[in-house]
Amino acid sequence: MAETDAGGPEGPDGWPVVGNTFQFARDPFAFYERCAELGDVVPYEVGGMTFYLVTHPDDIERILSTEHRKFEKGAFQREQLSGVLGEGLLTSEGERWREQRQRIQPTFGPEKIDSYVEIMTDCAQGAGRRWWDGRQVAVDEEMRRITVQILARSLFGTDIGDHVETIADAMGDIGAQAEAPAATALLPEWVPTPWDRRAQRGVDAIDGVIADLIERRRGDAEGRDDLLSTLLVAHDEGEISRGTLRDQLVTFLLAGHETTSLALTYTWYLLAENPDVRERLHAEIDDVLGDGVPTMADLGNLSYTEQVVTEAMRYYPPVHRVVREASEDVQLRGRNVEQGAILTMPQWIVHRDARWYDDPLEFRPERWAADRDRPDYAYFPFGGGPRRCIGMRFAKLEAQLILATLARNFRLELVGDGGPLDLTSGVTASPTEPVEMVPRVR
Ligand code: HEM
Repeated sequence: MAETDAGGPEGPDGWPVVGNTFQFARDPFAFYERCAELGDVVPYEVGGMTFYLVTHPDDIERILSTEHRKFEKGAFQREQLSGVLGEGLLTSEGERWREQRQRIQPTFGPEKIDSYVEIMTDCAQGAGRRWWDGRQVAVDEEMRRITVQILARSLFGTDIGDHVETIADAMGDIGAQAEAPAATALLPEWVPTPWDRRAQRGVDAIDGVIADLIERRRGDAEGRDDLLSTLLVAHDEGEISRGTLRDQLVTFLLAGHETTSLALTYTWYLLAENPDVRERLHAEIDDVLGDGVPTMADLGNLSYTEQVVTEAMRYYPPVHRVVREASEDVQLRGRNVEQGAILTMPQWIVHRDARWYDDPLEFRPERWAADRDRPDYAYFPFGGGPRRCIGMRFAKLEAQLILATLARNFRLELVGDGGPLDLTSGVTASPTEPVEMVPRVR
């Protein structure tokens, strides 16, 4: 394999000037796969910027956790996300981030999250009431509806069921930016494309939802301890600006529902493709729940259900890559990585690496039953280190409860032949088409 002066393998061949921009834009997942075949730290060029694909769990652990001070989220990511999210928890850095995380962390304490169990099962049951035997449903939309409702009722203490369609449409408008043709990546930033304009429409719609949320809870925040009240009180006491309040709420509204709804969509799809696993899941749920609705106490006995969700997030990680910028020169696997370089750490590749997973393309929840000796960061659907997902406990609890509640009454079947899903690479990996399935009453 060819070595560069900086040490380590050369990247994939690209074109003059545009580098790997077109290969990347055509199919980022396939592009990552090609890069990963070349080594564990592989350079590539997109849109005039230098990236490295980092695929060894030990390096990922250094970047996200043990040596996190040498890396930051960086301008690249801020530019990608801040048009929508502003400077909320996901996009801010340094002291501003630390202060926000400290303020919000208590609303994500284990006891607080566990107190949302009933809201979670209630919203799942509500969806079940809209399903009947043989009625085809778009599972991604159904899951999104449930997770938006749960988020609003738990963290925002209000029901925004009437906004679900607005949020879904806005997410589509914002997400479409990721599908803009590769050539737009080469345009100067100040040239607005039709995709930018569509995204702006989405942002405006989300802002409308947030304004309504704040309005509904005005004057009713004292004495409550959910996320919205915590932020409203901080705003009223002059600790955070109106802009920060807005940015935080948009961040939680978007980061807090889309990811979990994708995890569940992929779970249902993989279960339908693997009927043996599905049967084993139903058997566990019948055994533990009988005719009941899952409670906190049941979760400890639903270990196969937990393994199913864990394995689905390995197979189709909703966040398919985490990105950092080197804030100083560093060495990774003997290669010099210069300050300012952008490091892409793809769960998509690491979770399917045969060094850590036997038969990685098989959906096999049982692999999580035995303690296999694999590096910690061979599995990192929620990222890691100080910037690890604040909603991890919330998301895991929610996914298991929704799955158990609905699988108690329904078996979901595929429409069509199954096979690998076509995914779009934005901030999340989302299906290019609605995921149509048919519920059968059990
Ligand atoms: C299956 C569901 C979820 C997945 C796969 C997921 C994934 C992630 C990942 C990978 C990160 C780290 C990003 C980075 O380091 O650059 C992250 C951060 C974050 N997530 Fe999640 N997430 C999920 C659910 C949630 C939920 C339910 C919430 C809120 C209720 C949430 C809110 C956030 C926030 C605010 C951050 C930024 C944290 C910080 O930087 O301090 N996520 N998430």
